[in-house]
Amino acid sequence: MKFVGSLDQGTTSTRFIIFDEKGNIVASEQKEHRQIFPEPGWVEHDPAEIWENSCACIRGALGKAGLSGGDLSGTGITNQRETIIAWNRKTGEPYYHAVVWQDVRGATLIDALKKENSEQWLRERSGLLYSPYFSASKIAWLLENIPGLRPAAERGEAVFGTIDTWLMYNLTGRKTCVTDVTNASRYMLMDLRRREWDDDLLRLFAIPRQALPEIRPSVGEVYGYTEVSGPFAASIPVCGILGDQQAALFGQACFGKGEGKNTYGTGCFMLTNTGTVPVLSSSGLITTVAYQEKGRDALYALEGSVAVAGSLVQWTRDSLCLVKDVRELDHLAESVEDSGDVYMVPAFSGLFAPWWRDDARGVIVGLTGYATRAHICRAVLESTAFQVKDIAEAMEKDSGITLGTLKADGGLTNSKPLMKFQADLLGIPVIRPQVVETTALGAAYAAGLTAGVWETLGEVRTQWQEGCRWEPHMDEETRSRKLRQWYKAVDRSLGWMS
Ligand code: G3P
Repeated sequence: MKFVGSLDQGTTSTRFIIFDEKGNIVASEQKEHRQIFPEPGWVEHDPAEIWENSCACIRGALGKAGLSGGDLSGTGITNQRETIIAWNRKTGEPYYHAVVWQDVRGATLIDALKKENSEQWLRERSGLLYSPYFSASKIAWLLENIPGLRPAAERGEAVFGTIDTWLMYNLTGRKTCVTDVTNASRYMLMDLRRREWDDDLLRLFAIPRQALPEIRPSVGEVYGYTEVSGPFAASIPVCGILGDQQAALFGQACFGKGEGKNTYGTGCFMLTNTGTVPVLSSSGLITTVAYQEKGRDALYALEGSVAVAGSLVQWTRDSLCLVKDVRELDHLAESVEDSGDVYMVPAFSGLFAPWWRDDARGVIVGLTGYATRAHICRAVLESTAFQVKDIAEAMEKDSGITLGTLKADGGLTNSKPLMKFQADLLGIPVIRPQVVETTALGAAYAAGLTAGVWETLGEVRTQWQEGCRWEPHMDEETRSRKLRQWYKAVDRSLGWMS
């Protein structure tokens, strides 16, 4: 039996999962890390904590599986995208905390650039639109605000990397500074078609090229070997990298044009593979790289990104203290027939697709004396389903593909009331695969395909199997009424900060 590892570094936690050659989980270890909120709208992580947790997860999973690092054919990496760390290439010392994808501190710069530059040009060059979500404005903020960082970046001493690059660099004993095309496509500094850092975009954000990692394919290349003194205690190939949403797409075996998935994680991300030609959106979606095998054409995807989904459930538990755990939230949501006309728009970091409004903020509307804790819990879950409905509609418009089913994955798919309501709202079945850890599985597939555990994408595709299915039952009139109310609620949240 062959084994392959997958290091899955997400927004709230880090996991290391070991898969066997049949795509089954052999062992896994998970650790949460601190969310640091220095100011409203700012979100940071500690790079050292992320690296330490990664080491602990690797050691923990290997221990549980009774395997040593050398028993793995290789390992893949998948990561929260856009989150950026600046560190010194020689010493490995970070200059500042990781600035997380949800962090909106780049909004002022983005607003200024939006006024002076064409959105169409940006979309055509990078596939993206002006938003502080992507890495470029975060890097520009660091260059502007961290003393000594700009000269260090200009000398090529400092590097700005997404989490994959940070982990790769540390796993290989500070030898490698690379990222894959899917992660690179989230910087807003890459030419989408050439898949190289773009001079015009670098100039726009005043970012020196020498401070960026090298861009590599996602599959088919050994980027480096792990240090024997590191958590694997062996030298094994690191041979697959995918941003986490692209990894989930890969793990759901959406290898061909027209295949897509939605991941219910910290946020929600719907991606549809559009084949080898990038499709530009006219409905508020972004265009991104789906994956690239070495020596082959890259595949592209349309993406609908929702900033707050699972993190709203966490906020309801930890900040609002309305429930003690997710099971209680589900239980309360199921105890009422509907939300009692309460609607919640969780625009904590503004609203992403299809609205893209930094000036939106969260609202709860429709409160009456009738509303109880249970109705609010239901509104919390339903807000995710409404946001997914919005991006599904945009996806259908842009891709011309009518969704027949929705392939779903991610932690929130454990919420039965949410999945049921999602099927009702979309009017199509929602399907979850048997192996629900699709993000980690996708990176394991990328590494295993490179290391020879699997030979072809076709071989990997045969491993996908349906696990659960939720059928729609809601009548059209109820669905339309709920959607009308939802749009009214969204309207209340837009422009709150302007
Ligand atoms: O773009 C942000 C995304 O990659 C975060 O993913 O899984 O941490 O919610 P996740």
